[in-house]
Amino acid sequence: MRERAAKGTASAMQHSAILNVMIKAAYRAGKSLKRDLGEVEHLQVSLKGPRNFVTAADRKAEEIVYEELAKARPDYGFLGEEGGPRAGTDKSHRWIVDPLDGTTNFLHGIPHFAVSIALERDGAIVAALTYNPANDDVFVAERGKGAFLNDRRIRVAARQRLADAVVACGLPHYGRGDLVLGRHEIAAAQNHFAGLRRFGAATLDLAWVAAGRFDGFWERDLSPWDMAAGILLVREAGGFVSDLDGGEAILTKGNIAAGNDTMHRELLRLMKEAGKQAANDPEREADKSPAKVVAAAPAGRSVP
Ligand code: IPD
Ligand code: CA
Ligand code: CA
Repeated sequence: MRERAAKGTASAMQHSAILNVMIKAAYRAGKSLKRDLGEVEHLQVSLKGPRNFVTAADRKAEEIVYEELAKARPDYGFLGEEGGPRAGTDKSHRWIVDPLDGTTNFLHGIPHFAVSIALERDGAIVAALTYNPANDDVFVAERGKGAFLNDRRIRVAARQRLADAVVACGLPHYGRGDLVLGRHEIAAAQNHFAGLRRFGAATLDLAWVAAGRFDGFWERDLSPWDMAAGILLVREAGGFVSDLDGGEAILTKGNIAAGNDTMHRELLRLMKEAGKQAANDPEREADKSPAKVVAAAPAGRSVP
């Protein structure tokens, strides 16, 4: 698949034309990121560190993705994390792109990051791709056609017992997100699941739920490009995805729960319970002190 993607030719698996465009774009951006990861590893030892270099790598990857997608579909709109929204003349179609998901991992030379591309048609995600250049895993899905990892069909895990399940999450950090709520959510997961993982790339967390590696995933304070492709991957793999209130407003609310029917339902229940406990937690009031609120404000995310 990768060689085919690199050459941009039709694949033996008969990907649609649109998936071939997405694969080619992700593969070119991934090649650039792979090269830059080598440099990041050198820069770790410098006093300044690789932060500016990574910012440039991220922007370069987005430009590559944009260039490839625009070459094939010049009329489509584009929403990228780095460049923001670019309107298209075709108002039905929009790409939603995270050129480098897992920036913190990349910055530290941790080979767990992804290029993620989703295509939205009239507000619904119809095609999805998440590509990890570090190990060449390519996850793709199209609406109604199933989800695939490196051309092999994937399904969400069938596990039904929470005590057997491994789930993934994102965590709030100082100055970003609700730390008290985060602690209650983690405790809820620790009390019920066999394992909890925080790998640092939401697009891959969702792709791994689709592939049955994780039984479930939840996170708050995400942006559309973190979730758009993963929503379709999980659904096409037979899984369930919603916002944390169980509704469809995932991209606007910026929070998400995913898994098979049981895991998804149980995650919603546990996180709701954690929310009630956090609301009554005296530490939460302390956390709302003006100093903390001001510190948290610049890191807040707006949803386009
Ligand atoms: C981040 C990753 C991470 C999640 C953060 C995201 P970025 O995206 O997906 O796993 O916890 O909330 O912002 O910044 O690396 O593209
Ligand atoms: Ca991201
Ligand atoms: Ca990113």
